Amino acid sequence: MKKADKAESRGVYDIEKIFEVVLAFNSVNDRTELLNIILTKMMEITYSDAGTLYTVDDDKLNFRIIKNKTLGIFQSSETDEINLPPIILDKNNIQNVSAYSAIKNEIVLVDDVYAENERFNFSGPKKYDNMTGYSTRAMLVLPICTQRGNDNEVLGVIQMINPIDPITGGPGVYGNIYEPPIVPALAKIAANTLANLTYVRDLRLLLRSFAAVMTQAIDERSPYNNNHTQNVAQYCEKFATHLGRIFPQGHAFHFDSLHTERLVLAALLHDIGKIITPLSVMDKSDRLGQRLEAIRYRFELKKCQIEIDWLHKRINNEQYAVEKEMTADYQLLVEHINTIGFLTDEHMENVLKLRSLTYKNTEGAVVPLLDEGDIDALSIKKGTLTASEREIMQQHVVITGRLLDKIPFWKYYGDVPQWARSHHEFLDGTGYPQKLSGAEVPIESCIITIMDIFDALIDDDRPYKKGIPIDKSLKILEKMADEGKLHKELVQLFTESKLWEDIV
Ligand SMILES: [Fe+2]
Ligand SMILES: [Fe+2]
Repeated sequence: MKKADKAESRGVYDIEKIFEVVLAFNSVNDRTELLNIILTKMMEITYSDAGTLYTVDDDKLNFRIIKNKTLGIFQSSETDEINLPPIILDKNNIQNVSAYSAIKNEIVLVDDVYAENERFNFSGPKKYDNMTGYSTRAMLVLPICTQRGNDNEVLGVIQMINPIDPITGGPGVYGNIYEPPIVPALAKIAANTLANLTYVRDLRLLLRSFAAVMTQAIDERSPYNNNHTQNVAQYCEKFATHLGRIFPQGHAFHFDSLHTERLVLAALLHDIGKIITPLSVMDKSDRLGQRLEAIRYRFELKKCQIEIDWLHKRINNEQYAVEKEMTADYQLLVEHINTIGFLTDEHMENVLKLRSLTYKNTEGAVVPLLDEGDIDALSIKKGTLTASEREIMQQHVVITGRLLDKIPFWKYYGDVPQWARSHHEFLDGTGYPQKLSGAEVPIESCIITIMDIFDALIDDDRPYKKGIPIDKSLKILEKMADEGKLHKELVQLFTESKLWEDIV
């Protein structure tokens, strides 16, 4: 057979096929999918019956994909448990042909693994044959090595087994793969494509880790619920993975791994605007906050002034007793109102009575013991924030959007700022700050909102506020969904998923 005919019988001159292989390498952006395509296409172009792809991790070759057409085997470490130990990349292990290929960055061609061989030990393939009844014969081992200038890096090894003659369908030969060097060239293209996707994967990991560290720093500013962001991100990840499993591709609730990754990034960054929220507002655990100390001081001053008035006989015994008791009662009232969860109408009336309480200031002038700011704070019906403090608090989401707009997210993460900045929007338009409603609120934001509220409800995040039990928290979410604020179907799916069981 002439050299050209021999080469053609292996198909290496089929230009269309070569283009198809190169295009296939460049058609995916998922690293695991690429590994599968590399092995599949390299087996196709070399007419191999079987093949194994290993990747180099921690100085070891790890089995990633095993294919065998005759045995009908396809195993991927992503989805299957491959019970084969990794191959140590050590110069003492170069009798292993794959380790040799990776360490030396050399292509190895073996016509018959059962023929006498002084260089390599083929006990592994022979053992495999014994176990499966397969008959390993020829082997072509290619390093997946990047080449950028003088910088080479072996990322893995492809081991191809038993070429089939494309004309007869019987056993074929690998022949001289360097004439022309199509197969080594394709292995290099595969390596560079794999390296690019590996860089992208590493960059994505870097971005996620960076976001996680940044937000942990924000969480740790406050002693209350200092796992909030991590919790919300974890709930989002689990819920999106759950939705990805139960809804088919193309469904609005289907999340693939990239979509989940983007959602998690948005969840990690959702409260990043809290970086500038004053702790006096963020950590305010009662109505009066930092005002309380000054008020207690004024009450003490008032009590001393009553004593002095009595000692100087400016008031009689009866007035002294009444004033002393009344001041103590008012102080108790202030301390009580300061920490209770909800103010009734009676409480509100009592707060207004506090306006009449006076003391002498340092200049001797008789002035109200509680100023308008104190009365405003004590009049908060529910929660701990006054209207102006609530406004400051709500600003965090505006700052989140503003900060994230400054980051040049590439297309993978283009929606992340919008998803993050919309986590306080409600479907009925009563949220903030954009007052979005209905379909204007992205599904991803709806999910972050549900997880955000759920985490806030169940957490013991303030000294006077115990966490709400999970079943009651879920009821609150359901009520908010019934009111049209939260996404009803997503709340229901979250309730049914019981995903919190692994986290809480
Ligand atoms: Fe928030
Ligand atoms: Fe939050």
